[in-house]
Amino acid sequence: LVAGVDTSTQSCKIVVRDAETGALVRSGSAQHPDGTEIHPDHWWTAFTEAARAAGGLDDVAAIAVGGQQHGLVALDAEGNVVRDALLWNDTRSAPAAEDLIRELGEGDRETGAQRWADATGSVLVASLTITKLRWLRDAEPDNAARVAAVALPHDWLTWRIAGYGPAGESPLGPDLTALCTDRSDASGTGYYDAEAPADDGAPGTLGAYRRDLLALGFGRDDVVLPRVLAPSEPGGVAHPSVAGSAVEGGALLGPGAGDNAGASLGLGMGPGDIAISIGTSGVVSAVAPRRTADGSGAINGFADATGNALMLAVTLNAARVLDAARTVLDTDFDGLARLALSAPPGADGLVLVPYLEGERTPNRPDATGTLHGLRLATSTREHLARAYVEGMLCGLADGLDALRAQGVPVERVMLIGGAAQSPAVQEIAPQVFGVPISIPAAGEYVADGAARQAAWVLAAASDPDAAAPSWSTSVTATLEADPRPVVREQYAAVRDLV
Ligand code: XUL
Repeated sequence: LVAGVDTSTQSCKIVVRDAETGALVRSGSAQHPDGTEIHPDHWWTAFTEAARAAGGLDDVAAIAVGGQQHGLVALDAEGNVVRDALLWNDTRSAPAAEDLIRELGEGDRETGAQRWADATGSVLVASLTITKLRWLRDAEPDNAARVAAVALPHDWLTWRIAGYGPAGESPLGPDLTALCTDRSDASGTGYYDAEAPADDGAPGTLGAYRRDLLALGFGRDDVVLPRVLAPSEPGGVAHPSVAGSAVEGGALLGPGAGDNAGASLGLGMGPGDIAISIGTSGVVSAVAPRRTADGSGAINGFADATGNALMLAVTLNAARVLDAARTVLDTDFDGLARLALSAPPGADGLVLVPYLEGERTPNRPDATGTLHGLRLATSTREHLARAYVEGMLCGLADGLDALRAQGVPVERVMLIGGAAQSPAVQEIAPQVFGVPISIPAAGEYVADGAARQAAWVLAAASDPDAAAPSWSTSVTATLEADPRPVVREQYAAVRDLV
């Protein structure tokens, strides 16, 4: 058996699967406080509760952790957390991101943006770890001075599972050099180049930290950074008090992954596959052999969890746009779908540009939503419902276009996340995206990806050339393309006005 963990912004989920077949054996989850800053101890408590709910982890032979990306977990020399972790959705470091872009560009923003993209795959935004280190340096110098190691949420949880932590709170104590991570999560820090050549000049599989950029951001680079492991390289063994006590040799620890890379491994995505996740944020992602360097910032060139690149666009207005529609129309999930499907494609010219929370792709942090085209004939609940669903999907289609602009072919899309189950989304998405769509069965893709990695680490322990296990993902619906260009045309016209 193997275990996969998803330590997310809201909760911890664990799946226990058969290492050979991938069959789900047990699972458990536990909520923890969410928000934009949180003490990592909550993640540990939720992990132990989820493990209990999953029937314990004594019988697992390998375990790996996928997690929310970018969060700053700063540790002092004794392994204590210096302050609450600042998470991916904490925007206080937005001015720091702008400062760092201009500094690398020697005063010129465009040059700086391109230099960050060339060096790390991404133009800085407040989500990325390095901007949080700059904020810490300036806003909390005493805390900054105490920082001895910088980890990400999944690295820190893996370290605790291995038995490390503050003295008195952990069996093995605070060995900071035992911290490890993987390329996918390291690629979201802003101080790591996933495609740096190896020492012999060949394109690297492990990439390299850019300590010069860390020094630019934080003012010093004398901190321990987690060792970056290869996709199927073990990061040690879980402490027997946590997992694997009934297994000879204990439970191997996988390198783990950022959540988006974990989901792509869970879905079995390879080069050519595109996934669109409609959750709190909308994530449009593609696996490609190499990343590009998009100086516009629309696409983050992260790494995936298998040795490829993960090209990613994030929109801030996804499932919550549909929640807002339900509130406005005073209806439920099914009611919204019924209403939306009662109006024609294009909603007779009623268009919602859904920047209800500003927007990240395109980069318009201060934008608001716009409803355009109201007439007596379009002042109906049906037209409004249709405009909300179409507007949300058009925002995601802009993310697809940003991928196309980077040369990524878009031939087929996998649609995941709770909102993908809506009949209105399933009928309207093929019209807006204009390509065939498959809907995988609802699942815990991040935890599943971590479990798949754990099985891979286990297989590689006896055969270093073992490939990632090819467990199949069941598909509940396959939808033919049904392009209705008018929907995106009228949306684009209004979007470009706002
Ligand atoms: C990716 C990102 C989010 C978090 C959410 O850049 O910010 O998807 O990883 O957990």
